[in-house]
Amino acid sequence: MHETDGVIYSMAPMEGIGTCYYRRVHRRLFPEGISRYYTPFLSVYPNLAFKKRDLREIMPREGEAPEETALRRLLVPQIMAKTAPEIVWAARKLKTLGFGEINLNLGCPSGTVVRKGGGAGMLADPARLDALFDGVFSDPDFPGDGVRLSVKTRLGLRDPEEFDEILAVFNRYPICEIILHPRVQEEYYSGKPHRDLFARTLERTDKPLAYNGDLFTPEDVSGFRRAFPGVKHLMLGRGIVANPALVREICGGPPLTLSEFRTFLREITKEYTAILDNEQQLLLKLKELWYYMGTLFAAEDGVPPERLIRNLRTAKNMGEYRNAMRALFERWPKKT
Ligand SMILES: Cc1cc2nc3c(=O)[nH]c(=O)nc-3n(C[C@H](O)[C@H](O)[C@H](O)COP(=O)(O)O)c2cc1C
Repeated sequence: MHETDGVIYSMAPMEGIGTCYYRRVHRRLFPEGISRYYTPFLSVYPNLAFKKRDLREIMPREGEAPEETALRRLLVPQIMAKTAPEIVWAARKLKTLGFGEINLNLGCPSGTVVRKGGGAGMLADPARLDALFDGVFSDPDFPGDGVRLSVKTRLGLRDPEEFDEILAVFNRYPICEIILHPRVQEEYYSGKPHRDLFARTLERTDKPLAYNGDLFTPEDVSGFRRAFPGVKHLMLGRGIVANPALVREICGGPPLTLSEFRTFLREITKEYTAILDNEQQLLLKLKELWYYMGTLFAAEDGVPPERLIRNLRTAKNMGEYRNAMRALFERWPKKT
């Protein structure tokens, strides 16, 4: 049980969801199998600063428990930055905070981010991307020996074939790992990931290549591993949010029980109650999670109990939310 067979399972960066509050609870209750966590992207401002909110993702808390310190050692901060000086500044700053790796966001598909040239927008022009990495790795201030730089990328903006040129750029620099979500920006999360292009990428780079995309069940993971036995890092996002015990199950552990799930929700609610200003903000945050967690409640005939989830997501206050949740818990799959 809890064997990863030498594979690293990591929790994907997820803005608004995989926050320090979420990670803290998740690690306490479901520590099995996940050996790396990525922060949601930390924006680097052009005046070389992080937001206060983003700093909370990486800074030690006053009087934090030893488990939290241990969790921070498994953390890779992801940054959203568009210029070499911003990346070099972030690398130096994060090195002083004890981090050995930073990850650059080259995959965010959001229209607003892309229009401003960030996230997947940085894949638009491989020559500019090349100049960016040249700027980073030739900067004497880049703490290359102290902090490694990995990238999380898509295949391009519109056409998966764009990735040929992008990969050639990555291959020219000492980037320590490529995490590939094999879709283009325009696809957001629709359709199927282009596994054929992932396979081609494996043949065309000597760098460690990690896979991310649509691994939602233990069966998805075992299928992937049969197809790609050489891939040693699998990053999971929505699957973990939908089922917090997913990686434990992947590693041979028991499935999630209703009692565990209720404890998880209670603890998450407690964390957010402590930091959010009012009930409406709390509701919004919890509803965001329920966007993904609804799949746990597949009815026996395989039809998700959509009406009950809708009640939950339209609840106007915590009382309505709790009533909707109770109704949903009655639909917990029989396997528990
Ligand atoms: C709500 C949400 C927030 C996300 N935030 C980030 C982010 O901050 N940085 C990033 O690189 N990717 C982000 N992603 C993309 C995920 O890291 C991941 O690539 C995507 O969910 C596909 O993996 P999955 O199929 O395992 O969920 C986000 C995705 C979602 C759905």
